[in-house]
Amino acid sequence: MAEFTQEQLLELVNTSQVAAGNPRVRQVAQRVVSDLFRAIDDLDVSPDEFWAGVNWLARLGASGQMGLITAGLGFDRLLDIREDEADAKAGRAAGTPRAIEGPLYIAGAPLSEREVRVDEAPQRGEVLVMEGRVLDTDGRPVAGALVDVWHANEKGRYSHFDPDQKDFALRRKIRTGADGSYRFRSFVPPGYAIPPNSPTSELFSALGRHGNRPAHIHFLVAAEGQRTLTTQVNIPGDTFLDDDFAFATRDGLVVTLEPNTAPAGYESLDVREPFTRVRFDFVMQKASSDDEARPAARMERVAA
Ligand code: DHB
Ligand code: FE
Repeated sequence: MAEFTQEQLLELVNTSQVAAGNPRVRQVAQRVVSDLFRAIDDLDVSPDEFWAGVNWLARLGASGQMGLITAGLGFDRLLDIREDEADAKAGRAAGTPRAIEGPLYIAGAPLSEREVRVDEAPQRGEVLVMEGRVLDTDGRPVAGALVDVWHANEKGRYSHFDPDQKDFALRRKIRTGADGSYRFRSFVPPGYAIPPNSPTSELFSALGRHGNRPAHIHFLVAAEGQRTLTTQVNIPGDTFLDDDFAFATRDGLVVTLEPNTAPAGYESLDVREPFTRVRFDFVMQKASSDDEARPAARMERVAA
């Protein structure tokens, strides 16, 4: 048989098989292909439109910007919402809310004990010290937790995705002290925007959407026996706080800025003038499996 209707073709695509393959991949691919066949027919997608889409996907992949699209189309937040729902159902919704990792995490940042200067002299923007403790859901300090922190530079760009910055610029890891404490110095970061003149910006302009995120700082917090926490905090007052292109801001994660904090006690971070302080405790859930406590970001998790 070499003449097929649409339905017969789809059936063949979804059922042809010479080996077991991977049943889960087969299941998901069958569903996605079926939904796309239907969309093409319902929307009367022309060959030119279809191949323009494929060309855009190829350029998107080559640009390394796939992760920017997933966040902007809501998939990253969707996965968080689904995990929140699963936690609520299992009666384990507790601790600091999760917030998307985003596509710009890099593993292997330099590690310091208890405190670190995340930025480098000369000072850019307003001096920020963020400090607090890592706690478990019973309020006990988590000693030896790893707090991985990363944020954008004064132009809203991230090192490793920006040729103008050194490796691991604005990326550090801090190990909490016996009392669960951590602190770091940096500057109050600005907001972020998707790269202009890129496959990503093409999509968002065609959708009539902006590609801005409000000012934020990312964290990946890991400790033995605790569930790895991926979250972000937001700087208050940003115009995009309630209009984040990645839909990732959350109640409870907008910090309070304490401007004009006296520098006494912050000498080890080279703070000599009044500065902006943020106090924030991270509260981690108990891990329910070894896997949950694995100190790994999302790409490290799938690679393992
Ligand atoms: C994107 C960028 C970020 O800095 C972030 O935290 C999340 C998403 C993005 O470009 O998709
Ligand atoms: Fe970010």
